[in-house]
Order: sequence, then C-alpha cells, then structure tokens
Amino acid sequence: MLASPTLEEDLRQADELRGRIDLVELRADHLRDSEAAAASSFPARVGIPCILTVRRRSDGGSFAGAERDRVALLRKLAGAGFAYVDLEEDLQAPELDAAVRKAGARVVRSLHDFAGVPSGLSRRIAALARGPGEIARAAVTPRTCAQLAVLLDACRDAGALPRVILGMGEVGFPTRVLASKLGSAWCYASPTAEAAAPGQVTPPALDEVYRFRAIGPQTRVFGVIGNPVMHSRSPLIHNRGFAALGIDAVYLPFHVPDLQEFWKVADSLGIRGLSVTVPHKTAVLEFGVEGDADVRAIGACNTLTRASASGRWIGANTDMEGFLAPLRHALGGKIPPGLRATVIGAGGAARSVVAALASVEARVLVLNRTLDRARRLAERFHADFAGLDPAGARAAEHTDLVVQTTSAGMAPQQGVDPAPGLQFTGREIVYELVYAPARTPIVQRASAAGCRIIPGWQMLLAQARRQFLLFTGAEYPSEVMEALSGQLD
Ligand code: ATR
Repeated sequence: MLASPTLEEDLRQADELRGRIDLVELRADHLRDSEAAAASSFPARVGIPCILTVRRRSDGGSFAGAERDRVALLRKLAGAGFAYVDLEEDLQAPELDAAVRKAGARVVRSLHDFAGVPSGLSRRIAALARGPGEIARAAVTPRTCAQLAVLLDACRDAGALPRVILGMGEVGFPTRVLASKLGSAWCYASPTAEAAAPGQVTPPALDEVYRFRAIGPQTRVFGVIGNPVMHSRSPLIHNRGFAALGIDAVYLPFHVPDLQEFWKVADSLGIRGLSVTVPHKTAVLEFGVEGDADVRAIGACNTLTRASASGRWIGANTDMEGFLAPLRHALGGKIPPGLRATVIGAGGAARSVVAALASVEARVLVLNRTLDRARRLAERFHADFAGLDPAGARAAEHTDLVVQTTSAGMAPQQGVDPAPGLQFTGREIVYELVYAPARTPIVQRASAAGCRIIPGWQMLLAQARRQFLLFTGAEYPSEVMEALSGQLD
C-alpha cells in the first residue's frame, strides 16, 4: 500500500521493495490534488501491476472532496493501465464499472468495518461481486478471538470466490500472513515499519520472518499466544528452523485478549503447537490441558502441542530447562548443588527460574518489591525471601548467581534498575532475562564490576530449541541457532 502525498515518494518506496512485491496499491486519496491529477502516469512508471484506490474518509481514507469528484477522479484514472480498481460495496456507479471493464481492469468490490466484524459477514462477502472477474474484498476489525473465528469462518464460506479477506489490528494479524492459506488473492503490506499501523506487516518481514511465499493451503500453523505478543522474537526463531529443514509450516503471533475463545481459532486453523506467554501461562491450564511433570511443578505452561488422536492439548514447560541450559554451559557443564542464587522478582518468569534452581538443589533467595509475593513464591520452593531493600541487599551478599526476572529494564520501563541497592563484587554471574534491550542498567552495573553475564536471548533460544523439538519431532538446526545467537547478541 503506497500512501504518500507525492507520486515520486510512492515510486521511491515501490523501488525499494522491488522483488519483494507482486502488486502495488496506489492510495490516490493520500496524494496532493495536483499529484492525483497526474496519477495516470503511475502504472507505466512503476512497472508493477497496480490497484487504484481512492478511499473516502468514512472508509478510513483521506479523500475529503465531494463524492462526485471522487467518482470523476476514479473514472479519469481507470483507463490509465491499472490492473485493479477498488470500488466500495455501496458505490452505485454503473458507468464507472463499465469504464473499468472497458479498460481491461478488474473491479475489487470492497467493504470495511473499522469498529468490529459485522454480522452476516459471509453473506455480505458472497453478495459483493456484481460482475464477472470481480474480486470481493472485506477489511474488518476483529477485537477478540471470537471475532477472529467469525472471520476465519467467512474465509471458509467464501469457497473458490476470488477475494481478499483481511482482519485489521493485532488480533487480525494472522489473516495477513496466512492470506494464501485462507484463499485470499493477495496480502496488503505497509511499505515501512514507521508507516505500519498495529497489526500491519512490511514486505521484508513477510519474506524474512514469515516466509510468506512458501505458505499454501497445506501449510501447518504454529504460533505464540499472549497479550501483548507482537514484539515476540519467537516467530523469527521458529520460522528460520522450519525454513532450514524444509518443513511446510509457519509460526505466527496470536494477540489473545480472550483466551476462552482462542480455541475456536486453533480449531479453525488446525493449529498443531503453541508457545504460551504472558499473561496466559497459568490460565491455559484451566482448559483441560494435560500438563507434564514440569508444568505441575511450576504451575505454568509455556508450550502446548496437540495430540493428533485425541485432539487434546498437552502442556510442557521448556522455560525450566531453557533457563538451566545456558547456566550449565556458563558453569562448565554442571551446576554445583548448593549454588547460592538470588532471584530478583516473584512473577511468572521468576516462578520457572526458582523451580529450575530448586530442581538442581540451589540455595535460592527471592527478592521482590512486594514482599508478600516473594514470600508466597519462596514458600512453594523452600527458598528464602526478602524485599528489594537494604535488608534484601544484605541477605544477597555472598551470592554466586543473580537472576533478574522482572520487567524493569524493558519497555516501558527502559533504564530502570530493579535492585540499585544490590552491589556486585565481580564474582557473581548475572543472568538477565530481559533480552530487549540487551544492556539493561543492571547488566551495565554488573559488567562494570567485572561479573560474567548470561544474556536473556540465551534462555529464549534454549527454550525455543526444546519447543521446536516438541512441535516438529526434529532437532533445531544448530547452524541456524548459531546465526541467530550472533544476530541477537
Ligand atoms: P512476569 O510473568 O513477566 O514475571 P509478572 O507476573 O507481572 O510478570 O511479574 C512482574 C515482576 O516484576 C514482579 O516481581 C514485579 O514486582 P511486584 O511483585 O512488586 O509487582 C516486578 N517488577 C516490575 N517492575 C518492577 C520495578 N520497576 N522494580 C522492581 N520490580 C519490578
């Protein structure tokens, strides 16, 4: 979608994306008036098949003039070599339809809903196309998984109808990446990350993160459920693994505000495996998940796979082993029993860490801002606890390992040190679970004191490696893992 004020800028953006895109949409409603008048030169200049769209304000566009002026502009440009002309569901302009056909272009008949998913969506989509060769286009805004499921039903109901069915916003994101699996003729992408609204995707991300061109009707779907989730690096990790092993699968972020409704989406897409992240790691266990021993010990689940025979979800927790693997490596292959470990934080992430440390007989001290939460976590795993105060700092003296599990240091708390009172001697190993940004304040202090650092991306990769095995039955390719380590470090 090209939506600049000038044709030159639109051409420049199309040029930058050449090779990654098969089609451009010229949003002529965003052009300055003088530029819009000159837009008939655009298809020949850009040299890529074009959709012409002049969107009015009521449909989220920028065209502010009278409707008859809009129709006149569409008519003027329709014969300029555009491959498609986008006309709205309620636009009654038979002469314009005829002009588009006469010019050898195809009509994209579109409906929009920026507030939700309208009732009777399948019926409305079926009724959109008025003539031969028309493409039905529905762009609606699912806010919940229940609405996303309705949208997926509409994709199924559309059968062989030439169409593009698109969910806007973060919940709708999978409908973009899965366009070809869902039968859509194309996927709309935003030319730059800056121009991308929430839930939009850029052509480089479609290629490099999602392997868009490899996705087809048979492609198996995996993903991560969370809220928020769009920042997750897990799609990059898993999709790289699928690509390297030639596995016909794709891994997507699913923004899930309503977990109880998500299972309809999972059924509809035939999802085979899921990563589970904040805030659903404990909540998923309420939906008949059969948890393994780690899940029961931690009380949280970060991995779901679907048993093909029974259809039941099997829960695993790869966070525990994912946390221990880099630590073991840093300690030369073995974690000595009695290791003195201080864990900062007492939330969901801390729970896996404390469970993992307890499993290797470490002596654990939990430090948390809210003392009561520290106490509850510590009691469950026979650990000590204290507040993030001078008393806590004293209790943490002579520690071998400090694990930072809080969200301090990560957006929107960048630059925050959760434990400024904790002094480092340089002998401690500091394990920071935050991986973006890489150098949090506590990491900077610990490095300055001479401590060894285990960065958070090591746990991210180690837990993903185990998930990948559970998802596919195949080992994650080690050369890809090494390349990703270099990229994330
Ligand atoms: P997660 O599942 O990611 O661990 P969580 O369960 O919400 O998320 O827990 C967040 C943890 O970060 C908590 O231990 C929280 O401390 P409180 O229990 O006192 O809320 C901790 N935390 C977040 N921001 C913090 C900050 N600025 N300073 C200290 N601790 C912080």
